[in-house]
Amino acid sequence: ADDNYDYDLIVIGAGPGGYVAAIRAAQLGLKTACVESRETLGGTCLNVGCIPSKAMLHASELYNEAASGALAKLGVKIDKMSLDLETMHGQRRDAVKGLTGGIEFLFKKNKVEWIKGHAAFTSANAIEVAGKSYTADNFIIATGSSVTPLPGVEVDNAKGIVVDSTGALELPKVPDHLVVIGGGVIGLELGSVWRRLGAKVTVVEYLDQILPGMDGDVRKEANKIFKKQGFEFKLSTKVTGVQVKGKKATLTVEPAAGGASETIEADCVLVSIGRRPNTDGLALDKAGLTVNKRGQIDIDHEFGTSVPGIWAVGDVVPGPMLAHKAEDEGIACAEYVAGLTGIINHDVIPSVVYTWPEIAGVGLTEEAAKAKGEIKVGKFPMMANSRAKTNHEPDGFVKVISDAATDRVLGVWCIASVAGTMIAEAALAMEFGATSEDIAYTCHAHPTHSEALKEAAMAVQGKPIHM
Ligand code: FAD
Ligand code: NAI
Repeated sequence: ADDNYDYDLIVIGAGPGGYVAAIRAAQLGLKTACVESRETLGGTCLNVGCIPSKAMLHASELYNEAASGALAKLGVKIDKMSLDLETMHGQRRDAVKGLTGGIEFLFKKNKVEWIKGHAAFTSANAIEVAGKSYTADNFIIATGSSVTPLPGVEVDNAKGIVVDSTGALELPKVPDHLVVIGGGVIGLELGSVWRRLGAKVTVVEYLDQILPGMDGDVRKEANKIFKKQGFEFKLSTKVTGVQVKGKKATLTVEPAAGGASETIEADCVLVSIGRRPNTDGLALDKAGLTVNKRGQIDIDHEFGTSVPGIWAVGDVVPGPMLAHKAEDEGIACAEYVAGLTGIINHDVIPSVVYTWPEIAGVGLTEEAAKAKGEIKVGKFPMMANSRAKTNHEPDGFVKVISDAATDRVLGVWCIASVAGTMIAEAALAMEFGATSEDIAYTCHAHPTHSEALKEAAMAVQGKPIHM
């Protein structure tokens, strides 16, 4: 470090953006510290986000397969089965403990110092944490995001009646009726968990379709599949208030365009209408920083803010709020701080909804691609994929969108049991500037779900085999 400062770099926040940036900076020889106010490292993702939600999604899916009779149809008969919710929560807590402890180990291994507490700037080169001052040449702000509140709706996770995603991960019993406000990623993932475990689930969505931002076909098909699974959707509907009385909640809803209101009774209400950047209590003004209209910290292509030496990554900056986007930005940003060139392609960031089946996409939606110019589209149904059919997973499709003139792939969308795994291949192809023909001429192992991607690419040329 410069003799004047305690560290070369202090990272604020130890989520996927911050902890990864801190480790990479230390690997590059920078004297690095990372401030985290939580009891454990790993941020939203490891503590109350990606990891615990996937632990509950995996376990609840296994329960559902057994309880719904799907396993019996395969000849796997379970005479006496029951739900042990406490054990299910236990394995969730174990998954979180193992992974957050792993980050602590990695910090020690890479000599990243963990400063425990909440950081606030006192100048562009200094922060205060728990009454102590720390100085550095560089700061990376990676403070992440938290739940957007809904005016007039008070979340109380401890009570377990009106909850946010954190509360919805740890409900002590399966609610009879769960009402989800917001048909986005969290609503559908956590709604799926409790539906599989026996709850009736109603999703109230302000827009006329679920999963905003995703490809139009995908949104329609997902809606159909979830309805078949028992989800009830109230689209184009807004919640105007939630009243809690004893152990019940009453929601008042009305058409988004205005009109007569009605009430819905629930034992549990999940508020999942989006997340907003965390900048409260950071005293950004002391460092000479401001936030944009959406509360985000604006950055340039090298992750630099308007103040030299202060950088920012992850959910607190513009772009999709995804863990892998935060991680890749963290690595690239640390490389810039170290004087190297960091690389991340913001046009090729996959997104996955971990429902059953999974929903995944990378690149442009058909609507966005069309708006930019002439395109070709190839679609292949999972029903015609031998592996999906054999596994009794007929729902979904793969869609490849390419440029009409150059055939370069512009976007891939997919609903399939293993869509999250399949989309990695599409992202890699796009990263290498592949055409749909390149994918069509790549040999794919048989029988795999991935053959559906090859066939969708063949469909772009108008010549799929199995359809
Ligand atoms: P965060 O992970 O939010 O970490 C920021 C950290 O900074 C926090 O630990 C916070 O305590 C700390 N902090 C904030 N301010 C200060 C301060 N002033 N001083 C000290 N510390 C501070 N994304 C995916 O890609 N895949 C998924 O499957 C997925 N599932 C999700 C499920 C749920 C229920 C939720 C809520 C989110 C999910 N996400 C998922 C989103 C993902 O969690 C975020 O995109 C990711 O965590 C962002 O990383 P980050 O490092 O920017 O911020
Ligand atoms: P979201 O932005 O995905 O969905 C919010 C939904 O709520 C939208 O459909 C929106 O139209 C609707 N909405 C907004 N205001 C409303 C209102 N007043 N009444 C009814 N509906 C309303 O946000 P969500 O689900 O809260 O997730 C937050 C973020 O966390 C996501 O953007 C995503 O980036 C991240 N995440 C990612 C996951 C993944 O990658 N698998 C899983 C979970 C979260």
